[in-house]
Amino acid sequence: VVTEAVVEAKARPEPRVKPSPTGRRTVKLGLLGCGTVGRGLLELIDRNRALIEERAGVRFEVTKILVRDLKKERPGVDRSLLTDRAEEVVANGCDIVVELLGGIEPARTFVARAIADGKSVVTANKALLASAGAELFRAAAKTGVRIGFEASVCAGIPIIRTLESGLVGNRVDTLCGILNGTSNFILTRMTELGESFESALQEAQKRGFAEADPSLDVDGHDAAQKLAILSELAFGVPIDAAAVKVEGIRNLEPEDFKAAKELGYVLKPIAFAQDTGDALDLRVHPAFLPVDHTLAHVRFEDNAVLVKGDAAGELIFRGKGAGSLPTASAVLSDIVDIARNGSAPFRFADAPAKPAAPDGHARFYIRFPVIDVPGVIGRIATALGSRGISISHASATLVPGKPGHGNVKILAHDCRASVLADTIDAVSRLPVLAGRPVAIRILEAN
Ligand SMILES: NC(=O)c1ccc[n+]([C@@H]2O[C@H](COP(=O)([O-])OP(=O)(O)OC[C@H]3O[C@@H](n4cnc5c(N)ncnc54)[C@H](OP(=O)(O)O)[C@@H]3O)[C@@H](O)[C@H]2O)c1
Repeated sequence: VVTEAVVEAKARPEPRVKPSPTGRRTVKLGLLGCGTVGRGLLELIDRNRALIEERAGVRFEVTKILVRDLKKERPGVDRSLLTDRAEEVVANGCDIVVELLGGIEPARTFVARAIADGKSVVTANKALLASAGAELFRAAAKTGVRIGFEASVCAGIPIIRTLESGLVGNRVDTLCGILNGTSNFILTRMTELGESFESALQEAQKRGFAEADPSLDVDGHDAAQKLAILSELAFGVPIDAAAVKVEGIRNLEPEDFKAAKELGYVLKPIAFAQDTGDALDLRVHPAFLPVDHTLAHVRFEDNAVLVKGDAAGELIFRGKGAGSLPTASAVLSDIVDIARNGSAPFRFADAPAKPAAPDGHARFYIRFPVIDVPGVIGRIATALGSRGISISHASATLVPGKPGHGNVKILAHDCRASVLADTIDAVSRLPVLAGRPVAIRILEAN
């Protein structure tokens, strides 16, 4: 998504600015959107104005704000700035266009127009970058403007800037994180309160974390898009989010959380990326983490990213991955950076894409829903053993309120994920199986 930006990078002009009565330059901001993040940005600029302007060395002025509904109540927002015509924002002499609409269209059209008009853009829109990032970055490089996207991944955590400049002297080969706050919230409630998936999801929706259609979050695609952006910055090669292997969290049962606890693990929604040299291992899936793993302590809607640099060593970033002010904080950091430094481009190696790494070895927890008949553990263990998968632990429990049904829970020694998947397919055909087995990768210590 991002890498192509450098290919045709040219010298970039500074934002067009004029001196203010205080002697400071004025940087004019055109806002597209005044929802959760847009209002947070206005509040933050208002609250910390003196501090921000002192640090940035410029004055900020919001010139126009695009909204859909001009009649909506927006406490604290100057109504004279509102418009429902995008061209009044993009083409009215602002220096930086801040896109906080969400979704792909019309955001893509408005951002493309701003770039063509020679304006740098700041966006929090990961979906836009995932779908149209390559064309927008290419256009920005040609026009000589910049696209700031710190807020698009992990909101308030400054991970984009860390990868692009803080760790610029490092070779980063591994990223591991919790990138989706909704999934982490759900798994934390299932772990700590023993809730079902459905009830934890309802609570997330009630608190405004999860969308009415939560599939992007709970099926792992939101985390995959974020992982693709971070990996592209970390490894310096173009990455398509579709290359990330994705498993969601819908199939997890309270039984899996009990097993994790008994065995000394915590269940977490993990995004993992590794550059193995000539290939990339990119995946999003629930995982058992040892209780002393750094990410095991990241709870509820928090996000975290563990980065390993060859010089800096292991670094951990943790904080709010969503929310009005945390996201506004990241948006503002891009605005200030562009105002201070102009639109200097990101610099990446112009490297070719890398193929997917062959699946490596890992330990797995597997739960087989079964009909409770004598010898069921033995039949499953024999089927696994006949395909070369050895086990270190096996136990069986009955399903409460469902007479004759149980779960066999197995810990498998190191095996290839693809071999395990084939074996599970074969075991699923045994007549004692009562449902689809669930296999969860076990991550070792950080
Ligand atoms: N919320 C978070 O915690 C968070 C975190 C990280 C990143 N982000 C990203 O930040 C962006 C904004 O999110 P948000 O939560 O602030 O969204 P939001 O609350 O839904 O606000 C969207 C704003 O855009 C306006 N808008 C949407 N479509 C429009 C259209 N076609 N024409 C004119 N105005 C339009 C809406 O106008 P009305 O007010 O009139 O409806 C509203 O003001 C998204 O890309 C999101 O993924 C959000």
